[in-house]
Amino acid sequence: MAKPAYTLTVTHVTHYTPTYFRFRIERPEEFQFKAGQFVMIGLPGDDGQPIMRAYSICSPIWDDELEFYSIIMQDGALTSRLQHIQVGDTVLMAEKAVGTLTLEHIREPSPEEAAQGRRLYMLSTGTGIAPFMSLIRDEDTYDAFDDVILTHTCRQVQDLQYGIDRVKAAHECPLVGEEASEKLRLYSCATREDAPYTGRITTLIESGKLFTDLGVPPLNPATDRVMICGSLEMLRDLQALMAAKGLSAGTKRVHGEYVWEKAFAG
Ligand code: A2P
Repeated sequence: MAKPAYTLTVTHVTHYTPTYFRFRIERPEEFQFKAGQFVMIGLPGDDGQPIMRAYSICSPIWDDELEFYSIIMQDGALTSRLQHIQVGDTVLMAEKAVGTLTLEHIREPSPEEAAQGRRLYMLSTGTGIAPFMSLIRDEDTYDAFDDVILTHTCRQVQDLQYGIDRVKAAHECPLVGEEASEKLRLYSCATREDAPYTGRITTLIESGKLFTDLGVPPLNPATDRVMICGSLEMLRDLQALMAAKGLSAGTKRVHGEYVWEKAFAG
């Protein structure tokens, strides 16, 4: 593996639950990225070789620091160590951010389609919410869409707090706050505990409950675009569902009506 380009100081750590935490690191002046992209982050292993994993960048593109949201897996090569980082410690970071979960990979609507209203769904489970934390602080998101719906599904209610906090920050943001307050809605769901909304996102889409709860029409390839980030199983099931609803998949080369990225774990 190529040597990581940067060794960067940790500026902030918050543990939300025993399994989820966020951390912030200093940002190299020349490091650029697009909202929704990920970068390799890591720590030196016992043998001195870096242990690197993909992390979606949560902070907005204009932030002075970089923020990440991580799961803790006690048997995970990186996160078993990363869970112990504190302010003042350092982490390793690769030179470039990459990924297809960006607005540029989404098919633009025709003028006739745009006239019907443009809606963006961001569907996430677990740490899959991370890339959307950057996109909800990006002006381009609100320029491109009239209605922005972020869904976050986790096992327990306490796992939903990070998303609630970041959406509040978007609504209060000096740059996008006004547009975000008008256009951005969060739909948080727990699957293993009672909550205002419960159940897997796949079930809620199939039954139509998601759309009824939000007061919007069912998925429509003309007006709606979907960004997906979660576990491999969640991606597989949602991809099948998107195809059944008539939405085309975006790739590196082709603009699509939906795009996806696998959430980091390990
Ligand atoms: P469930 O509790 O029914 O497994 P995990 O913590 O395992 O990564 O899961 C995060 C959330 O994603 C949980 O709420 C989980 O629901 C949900 N989930 C897991 N697999 C799928 C899937 N194939 N489709 C939709 N949601 C899923």
